[in-house]
Amino acid sequence: MSNFPEVLQNYWHAVATSDSLDSEVLSVRLLSKNFVLWRTPDGEVGAALDSCPHRQAPLSKGTLEEGCLRCPYHGWLFGDNGRCLEVPSAKKGLSVPPKANLEFLNAQEKYGLIWVCPGEPCAPIPEVTADKDESFTRINTEMQIWNVDSTRMIDNMLDISHFPYTHRGTFGIEQETVVPKIKLEQLDDTYYGYGYEVKINNVGSTKIMSGGGGDVIKLSMTTGFALPFSVLSTMSYETGVEQKLFMAAAPIEEGRSVYTFVLWRNDDVDLLVEPGRTIANEVLELELAVVLEDQIMLEKLQGQLPLKKGALVDVQADKPSLEWRRQYKELVSS
Ligand code: FES
Ligand SMILES: [Fe+2]
Repeated sequence: MSNFPEVLQNYWHAVATSDSLDSEVLSVRLLSKNFVLWRTPDGEVGAALDSCPHRQAPLSKGTLEEGCLRCPYHGWLFGDNGRCLEVPSAKKGLSVPPKANLEFLNAQEKYGLIWVCPGEPCAPIPEVTADKDESFTRINTEMQIWNVDSTRMIDNMLDISHFPYTHRGTFGIEQETVVPKIKLEQLDDTYYGYGYEVKINNVGSTKIMSGGGGDVIKLSMTTGFALPFSVLSTMSYETGVEQKLFMAAAPIEEGRSVYTFVLWRNDDVDLLVEPGRTIANEVLELELAVVLEDQIMLEKLQGQLPLKKGALVDVQADKPSLEWRRQYKELVSS
């Protein structure tokens, strides 16, 4: 049984990368349920409960035949829109009972990710406008599975006061510990959050991230969330280089989630910084190291982020998380 609030079924969740679906049938777990994903003959994403209508065998263990999915147990074959095309035990020409068809779920591809909505979508996939902007290049990473509740992941994505401590092995070493006063606002049509400006020490790999400039430069950032579990963080360097970092969590079980991030940059990410190494390689390596620091820290925390008022001690720097919790509580109790 799922302990997740029912309303989460009605949102889009990123569960796989588009690439991973090109060659195989995928089994993914979301909101305590197993789903099967594959590419149908028309190149679309097929998504259904990972349970054959006949005897509930896991279809993800089946095989693909020109985009149609064959169940591993008795060989029923499912095609576009989940239609059951063949029941091998039945005489040719006999009609297939309508209940033999697989019920397809809402699935979409966006930002190189496969998104699934098990219920009826009540909001679109969070918009990242850079994806439509030709001056930006998108960089994807693999999906990761963390032993961390999605609520704790969002709390962390919205938090800057952990930088000098959790991220002391990467960029945090240079960070100021005092967080300036945070003013929350609607950043655009999608994200609610805050903007801030920092001066950064622009040396080493930071200089590659920032696109050059002096040894100390100005960086303008925004961080905002879209319910339930997405965060967009934008960085604009004084040099004109911009980076958008989109992060999403998808709940598997309480205390376990899918995590991914997608980057967009407006510089030439294929430019070599040294032989055989591009800006994209450099930036990805840094971001992955940063994300690993978060994962190691968060996996030490148990269960959900307490949502009850007063259950946690919050200070001024925790304002964004407090607001996310307020809105999330409202959402799940609606
Ligand atoms: S369980 Fe799938 S064909 Fe029998
Ligand atoms: Fe972090």
